[in-house]
Formats: sequence, structure tokens, C-alpha cells
Amino acid sequence: MNILLIGGNGFVGQALIKKFTENKVKVSYLSRSQNRSITSEEANWIQGDIFNLDNIMIKESYDITIHLIGTIKNKNLYSKLNTESVAQTIKLCQKHNINKLVYFSANGGFKQYLESKLNGERLVKDSKLDYLIVRPGLMYGKDRLTSYFNILPIKFFSKFGITFFKNVYPLSVEKVADTVVKSIIDNKDSTIIHIKDMK
Ligand SMILES: NC(=O)c1ccc[n+]([C@@H]2O[C@H](COP(=O)([O-])OP(=O)(O)OC[C@H]3O[C@@H](n4cnc5c(N)ncnc54)[C@H](OP(=O)(O)O)[C@@H]3O)[C@@H](O)[C@H]2O)c1
Repeated sequence: MNILLIGGNGFVGQALIKKFTENKVKVSYLSRSQNRSITSEEANWIQGDIFNLDNIMIKESYDITIHLIGTIKNKNLYSKLNTESVAQTIKLCQKHNINKLVYFSANGGFKQYLESKLNGERLVKDSKLDYLIVRPGLMYGKDRLTSYFNILPIKFFSKFGITFFKNVYPLSVEKVADTVVKSIIDNKDSTIIHIKDMK
């Protein structure tokens, strides 16, 4: 199995690369800049901007693409990064005969953010590719220390049944990556991974 991570130099990408490496699955990541903490033994880096498909040099054949580009912080980029980059990734899959797309969506968050993620999901479902949609809440882990700040208040408020906080229930990025990698390796039929599946 050969996996291509789009935007895989970031927080979730690094966790996925560790899990794939542990399971001896070959993986490459595409991003505009290289992450020096990912060794070439762990993953091959492909330099590229998903909005510039003509300049992306794909030399191997891949079975699965995992889309990891997105933003929650920058409202002005919701449409571009959370939705349009998905359309670009679908084009890349079609161009290089990659039959399956895994999309990191979201289970909750601000209205406009969630809408841009759901628009991304629609593109994936309509693409005619095999797909898997992952809907995590907040993810935390040591590679993003600021992610620990919100865990306690979110867990506290979600106990009172407040929907917003329940929907972004914090999960460790390792657990999320482990569930996704297992689902891919076991070739499970499911098309959506919900928060409850990753707890
Ligand atoms: N972190 C969370 O708690 C959380 C929760 C729910 C959902 N998600 C979703 O999970 C996914 C992964 O999140 P993350 O936290 O790992 O994100 P991240 O750390 O920001 O990683 C994404 C990477 O995408 C790359 N990228 C951005 N624009 C690109 C472009 N035009 N072409 C190629 N690469 C590009 C960036 O690297 P370069 O700048 O070097 O290109 C960046 O490092 C996102 O879709 C996010 O919305 C995250």
C-alpha cells in the first residue's frame, strides 16, 4: 500500500506518518515546505502547492490520498483551504489514478467553518472516488502544545450537555491517527469515522 498525504507536514500529518511507519506502510507527503522532523526513512516529501497542480511532480503510484489542508483560525481562507483545496485534491487523484480519498472534515466548530468543511464533504461524496470522511473534534498532542489549553474547559462544558462543546470533544491526535490508519489497513467498509469511533 502506498499513501499520499496532502498537507502532511502539519500536526495530523506527522501523527499519521508515525502510525503508518509503525505499520510498515509506505507514505509520502505533499506540502509547500518540508518538515525536517520527518525523516526520509519515514516519508518521502513532495514539494508542491495543491493550487498549482501542473507543477506537482508525482513519480510513484499511490493507492490512497489523505487530505489534510485546512484552517479554523482564518475565516477569509475557509472557502479556499477547507473546500477548494478538496476540489484540487480530487483533480490530482483523477489525474494520477488514485482511487480513494480520505478527507479530514470536522464534527463541530463555528458555523462558517463547519459549512466549509461540509462543502468539502459534498465534493468528496460527489467525486466518484472511494472515500472515507473523518470527523474529529479538537485534537491535541505534544507536537502542538497550545492544543492542550482548551481540553479542560471543553470537557467541563460538554459534561453539561452543551452541544457546541460536545461536538468538539477533545481527542488525542495519536488516537485519531491510530483509528484512521487501522481503518485503512483493515480496509473497513465504513465511509465516515465519527468522534465516538475514535474515543
Ligand atoms: N487540528 C485539529 O484539532 C483539527 C480538528 C478538526 C479537523 N482538523 C482538520 O484536520 C486537517 C489537518 O489539520 P492540522 O491541524 O494537521 O493542519 P496543519 O497543521 O495546518 O497542517 C496542514 C498543512 O497543509 C499544508 N498546506 C497548506 N496549504 C497548502 C497548499 N496550498 N498546498 C500544499 N500544502 C498546503 C501546510 O504546510 P505548508 O504551509 O508547508 O504547505 C500545513 O502544514 C485539516 O483539514 C483540519 O481542518 C483539524
